[in-house]
Amino acid sequence: MTEHENKTALPLVHLGITRPEELTALFADLRGRFDADCACAQDESSWKQFRDAWLGRKSGVLTQITDNWLKPATLELKRAVGAALNELRAHVESQIEARRAAIESGAEESALARERVDLSLPGVIRPIGSHHLIRQVFQEVEDIFVSIGFSIVEGPEIETPYYNFEALNIPEFHPVRDDMDTFYIDLPKGAKTPLLLRTHTSPMQIRTMEKQKPPVRVIVPGKVYRRDNPDATHSFIFHQVEGLAVDTDITFCDFTGTIDYFVKQFFGPSVKTRFRPSYFPFTEPSVEFDVSCIFCGGSGTAAGGGTCSKCKGAGWIELFGAGMVDPAVYGFVNPAHGGGYDAKKVSGFAFGMGIDRLAMLRYGIDDIQVFFQNDVRFLRQFP
Ligand code: FA5
Repeated sequence: MTEHENKTALPLVHLGITRPEELTALFADLRGRFDADCACAQDESSWKQFRDAWLGRKSGVLTQITDNWLKPATLELKRAVGAALNELRAHVESQIEARRAAIESGAEESALARERVDLSLPGVIRPIGSHHLIRQVFQEVEDIFVSIGFSIVEGPEIETPYYNFEALNIPEFHPVRDDMDTFYIDLPKGAKTPLLLRTHTSPMQIRTMEKQKPPVRVIVPGKVYRRDNPDATHSFIFHQVEGLAVDTDITFCDFTGTIDYFVKQFFGPSVKTRFRPSYFPFTEPSVEFDVSCIFCGGSGTAAGGGTCSKCKGAGWIELFGAGMVDPAVYGFVNPAHGGGYDAKKVSGFAFGMGIDRLAMLRYGIDDIQVFFQNDVRFLRQFP
């Protein structure tokens, strides 16, 4: 118990006060103590304690003065005690209220200071993604073919051997299947047909013809899979764009003209190209289409001497296989779907280009593996 509480607990006569002028020092002392306590109330909870200590109804200092000093005071003292008490009360109440306001505005100020937005701080950087280079090249190829009347279709990456091989004139024991060895899916016993990851986008030739009658002019962008050993130009997953045009009067000239247009649009007019005889069971005649190697300038020799590792000394890099659709393929188009394709009435051409190699040549990338490593230092170069 503090000294003033102690004093206010006793009647004035016990404090030896009998005359009004003796009250002045007593109340001045109380007021001094109040002012000192008031300055100590720095936050809301200490302010509440302080307020209750002085103004509490049951045992606050002012209540004690009323009960212990005023009520039992002699007639001579009563008026003076009342006046001094009123003065003290006015002071106590106004100071307690002022203290409350000060604490509140201080809290507000510090909250404001805490929450103030510092516009000079560096902002939060949210990196914005962009299309992968392969997707960008797909888009370019698609735009060129769409501009000459082709439309875009997509097909399943998990195929049946029928569409991936047989319907493309590649029977079960044909040696060409060895070049396209792939990944078969583990299926439960008794499954209707085996399933495999497509080795090329060519199955969509048949699927498209089963859906639509001639004239057909489509391209098919997509992922394909092969058990090829990875090296600078081979990956076990890569990307192709298939092309198919079938109508009643399509010739080899239409084919070379279309390819020539595409290549000039994509690589520019000065690129050196060549068609090379090739073999695909589903085209006749068949060709491979090559572009001169940009890494050795077509010489086949690496800059530091020795064989160019990109074209393996050939001076050319194979871009795609193509040819006129083999008439046998039309026989595989199920008449129940496409209404049948009469090999005597229709002709067409098809191609299947490797998008990864197109991208490598166009942008001078010397290793196909970088497309699949997701190294942002590489990806950022193609925003
Ligand atoms: C085919 O896939 C045929 N379906 C293309 C075709 C379509 C021929 C229509 C006739 C008519 P090929 O196996 O050559 O053909 O592959 C085509 C292209 O895919 C190649 O020229 C090459 O650019 C790319 N390619 C092939 N294997 C890989 C590989 N492992 N990694 C990256 N690109 C590859």
